[in-house]
Amino acid sequence: MRILAVGDIVAADGREFVYNNLGRIKRKYNIDYCIANGENTANTNGITVDIANSLINSGVDVITLGNHTFSNKEYKAVLDDIPRVVRPANLPPETEGMGYFVEDLGNVRIAVINAIGRIHMDPVDCPFRATEKILREIENEADVIVVDFHAETTSEKLAFANYFDGKADIVFGTHTHVQTADNHILPNGTAYITDLGMTGVRDSVLGVKKEIIMDLFYTRKKFRFEKAEGEVWFSGVVFDFDEKTGKTTSIERLYFPASGI
Ligand SMILES: [Fe+2]
Ligand SMILES: [Fe+2]
Repeated sequence: MRILAVGDIVAADGREFVYNNLGRIKRKYNIDYCIANGENTANTNGITVDIANSLINSGVDVITLGNHTFSNKEYKAVLDDIPRVVRPANLPPETEGMGYFVEDLGNVRIAVINAIGRIHMDPVDCPFRATEKILREIENEADVIVVDFHAETTSEKLAFANYFDGKADIVFGTHTHVQTADNHILPNGTAYITDLGMTGVRDSVLGVKKEIIMDLFYTRKKFRFEKAEGEVWFSGVVFDFDEKTGKTTSIERLYFPASGI
């Protein structure tokens, strides 16, 4: 099966791109299953019920989140009512929703887990132990296991992926909004990339109007963020998973504007 993972979809431009183009992208690359990071899809960051449902209707099977899980006031309704939206597993235990989603597709059962890092991020429980706990829980329930590790530093992401090498089939990073070029298969078979990148306006700083972020770094004052305007680039990765051998055989990066589909 071919699995597509889409990097953080940012604001109205990013989500409109996905609504309008994901079907075409999935057909072009023969995609069977699509996972997308949706933590920045609402204009306030976070996600709304309407946006989650629209992404699912556009062909996203599972939406993962991150440090912006609670950024929109609709987060409770999203996490309580839409199981295809998963939030980081290592948030406080009383947090609404689930840290993973398992789906039986008939010929193969897929599990998608979301965890969040702890370096240059808000304090949370250990992502390693939280992921291990889920792997024990779903031991006999899934044939292909995918983890979105939402974290800032390359070192934490690499350590996480290597720790789960051979235990998860696919580990990809999100959060930095910049796609890395290190897609490869680790020694024990886990396909890995440090960051999928961002599906949003490219002429920006991480999807935010670049002038605002330049001012922020230059003056050290706080400014209200505004979304950038311009051409959206799609950023994601395609994984080939062989159901017969249980191995991920390839990991390929995608990065293009609508005109490049
Ligand atoms: Fe993000
Ligand atoms: Fe993030």
